[in-house]
Amino acid sequence: MTRVRLPGLIDVHVHLREPGFTHKEDLASGTRAALAGGISTVLDMPNTSPPITSPDMLLAKARLAAAKAVSDVGLFVGATADIDAPYAACAPHAAGLKVYVNETFGSLRIESLPALMRIFQRWPGPGPIAVHAEGVALAACLALTRLYDQRLHVCHVARAADIQLIARAKSRGGQVTCEVTPHHLFLTQDDLPRLGALGYMRPTLGTPADRDALWEHLDCIDCFATDHAPHTLAEKQGENPPPGVPGLETMLPLLLTAVHERRLTLDQLVERLHYNPARIFGVPIEAETWTEVDLDARYTIDNSMLLTRCGWTPFAGMPIVGRVTRVVLRGQTVFEDGRVLALPGSGRVLFGALEECGASA
Ligand code: NCD
Ligand code: ZN
Repeated sequence: MTRVRLPGLIDVHVHLREPGFTHKEDLASGTRAALAGGISTVLDMPNTSPPITSPDMLLAKARLAAAKAVSDVGLFVGATADIDAPYAACAPHAAGLKVYVNETFGSLRIESLPALMRIFQRWPGPGPIAVHAEGVALAACLALTRLYDQRLHVCHVARAADIQLIARAKSRGGQVTCEVTPHHLFLTQDDLPRLGALGYMRPTLGTPADRDALWEHLDCIDCFATDHAPHTLAEKQGENPPPGVPGLETMLPLLLTAVHERRLTLDQLVERLHYNPARIFGVPIEAETWTEVDLDARYTIDNSMLLTRCGWTPFAGMPIVGRVTRVVLRGQTVFEDGRVLALPGSGRVLFGALEECGASA
């Protein structure tokens, strides 16, 4: 047994599904899954129902999180095409602004250039503009970032050309960071015959060459992030499966397995799950907050071990080396030996989102 302590880990891209889709996940079940996965802080996406696009909605969600969450939670706000940019007033209390340029689950898609220009012009920061933008849309966002002097964070990069373009932008001094998900690092289109709709997400799985390009550009990847996007098994196996797969409980075990296989060092892992996420999104570093892992534990991922409400993972059956044994948050043991010990509401809401600044209530 080799037990190692990692500093508090941060997942910068999760969908906790509340409000509106709590049959898939909610702020309690999702943050319990986070702790079980060794993650003590999550940044939650705004594509809920209704979507989080104004100070009133941000405050309402912050209150729900304050009552239910067991990990710390920061909230993204979503960009809309509105002329009066209601999301902009949320800026001081949001992790960042999420812009959906490409098609995915939810109603927040931005399709026109004038709307995109307005968003890049109006967002005051300090959080970055986080985009789902692939291919030509990514090139457009990189250009807008420079033209409007913004800071861009590219979500779930999945294609060789996209990571190459980001590497080029960085080498030319672009204010750009990016994240890559475990499913794009460990799965490819070759897994689709086996996975069916359980392998369907946006961006879709790439070719083995895309996956290899991501690993080859490890230096260019600032964060690992799950894009934890739970849907029920019935929804995934139904007529029109929604895109998205859960990931909170499997990311760290998969990455620890890569460490075991010497494809990654523990320092590179900690940089991408702690230091870089904290710096890019301004997440406060908490004292006495850490995750203990057993680097030697061998087991196979199984749906029965999951706390996420959706109850399945595309990684079921994968052999793993590395287990989360304990999570400590501000001196309290919140997860130990497979059990969540934290009480609902013990997680903090970040960025002062509980303050009423700009909210009308
Ligand atoms: C996400 C979801 O289900 O909310 N789905 C996905 O395939 N990634 C939406 C998103 O992150 O784009
Ligand atoms: Zn997402």
